[in-house]
Amino acid sequence: MIDESRVAGGALSSDGVAADVALAEVRQLRAADRPTHGGRLFAYVYDPAVPGLDDLAAAAHRESAHVNGLDPTAFPSLLAMENALVGAAGRVLGGGPGTTAPDVVGSVTSGGTESLILAVKAARDAHPEIAAPRIVVPSSAHAAFAKAAHYLRVALDVVPVSVDTLRPDPAAMAAAIRPETVLVACSAPSYAHGVVDPVAEIAGAAAEAGVRCHVDACFGGWTLPYLRRLGEPVPAFDFAVPGVTSMSVDLHKYAYAPKGVSVLLHRDAALRAPQYFAYADWPGYTMINPVIASTRSGGPIAAAYATLRHLGDAGYLRLAGVTRDAVAGLADAVRAVDGLRLMAEPESTVVCFTATDDGPDLFVLVDELTARGWHTQPQLSYAGLPASVHLTVTAAVAPRVAEFGPDLADAVAAARATGPAALPPELRALATSLTPDALTPELVAGLAAGLGLGTGALDRMAAVNTLLDAAPARLRERLLVEFVGLLQRPAW
Ligand SMILES: Cc1ncc(COP(=O)(O)O)c(C=O)c1O
Repeated sequence: MIDESRVAGGALSSDGVAADVALAEVRQLRAADRPTHGGRLFAYVYDPAVPGLDDLAAAAHRESAHVNGLDPTAFPSLLAMENALVGAAGRVLGGGPGTTAPDVVGSVTSGGTESLILAVKAARDAHPEIAAPRIVVPSSAHAAFAKAAHYLRVALDVVPVSVDTLRPDPAAMAAAIRPETVLVACSAPSYAHGVVDPVAEIAGAAAEAGVRCHVDACFGGWTLPYLRRLGEPVPAFDFAVPGVTSMSVDLHKYAYAPKGVSVLLHRDAALRAPQYFAYADWPGYTMINPVIASTRSGGPIAAAYATLRHLGDAGYLRLAGVTRDAVAGLADAVRAVDGLRLMAEPESTVVCFTATDDGPDLFVLVDELTARGWHTQPQLSYAGLPASVHLTVTAAVAPRVAEFGPDLADAVAAARATGPAALPPELRALATSLTPDALTPELVAGLAAGLGLGTGALDRMAAVNTLLDAAPARLRERLLVEFVGLLQRPAW
């Protein structure tokens, strides 16, 4: 019998638990997570290892958590902080008074994906006369462009990157521009390999065709300018480049702010205008939204503001130097191991490597590194590019670099000894022959069980990655959607 006087279940307790109990539960759950601090997790997190910074950001977040960015006139504090963040990002990326892009404007969004969706939306809505708009991106562009294209019903024209340089040929980008193209995009740098696209040539071609050009600097926009100041040969990639009409930079990445803050910049207000959504045709308040969300917490914005104020230009310069040295140390560690090779010489804050023909199985190596407390990100083979291991390097990694080399060598030896993950031949055959539509829930459940998924222990993923690697992209997508769906079940 269901007691209808009570609906407690899941997170909803019957009578409420004490505050310290609730917090203890959060902490207990957090214990199962990858370590967000300490420089051993090479994806998802950005840690400057600056003492006191987390506390400052948390205190600032608390001050503004209940403030609503829905109406900038009701909460001028948020408007002021947002404008200050946009001003800072504009400066870092070559805009503002005294530059060739003095009229840069922007908005704070919830993250890189939202910034890219809005860049595509602004480009699309600037051309209502184009019935079937298209965008041109290199194959190395972040998947968020594909998401934007999907959400906004814009066609995606993908230009392959060279397997040697990992960059698109600017001539091929130019050739992909059609009369319906509303945006050309490139990365500075790409997430997967950390290489900077030939922005000047691509933006030039876009300008010549009268098309907008977005530079996705979500990942590296806050480090490349500092690396250049430190003497690194960073190519032109920002608003100093003619033809660049918009840029994105994530403050929750290398500006080291807590999650939930990115900045989307446009060269001028006219370019930004179609980004807004406005609606007065209902009985409630007139909705004017520069971004996708309507109600927006002030917490992330205040936390980012306090972070930038505290670290300052000198702080970011110092952190970029520390990170650069860590990148160099990790790259040396990779070079020193037989059987591995760098996908590209590092030119930003990514170290990406693959195995040589006689090298270890990469997915087993990733597991062996995990077993030694190093959490790296495997990347599947794609369009002629081999599978690789991605390391996002932040300042917190620097003190760990000396430990990484010996552990990497050790993990490679262990991976060689183990050999590739044993995948039952019928499973491998399935991966190459199955069409996404043939995937039934039962089949997926069977696959998941066969691969040991759903048991909570996700430290040995080589078999899963080997299976996915053997599958074409559409099947990878379907399999992972189904696997994630298995994880996302209500806790009653
Ligand atoms: C180059 C680039 N663009 C966009 C994104 C998407 O950012 P987010 O995960 O904040 O939505 C990322 C994330 O890593 C990125 O590296």
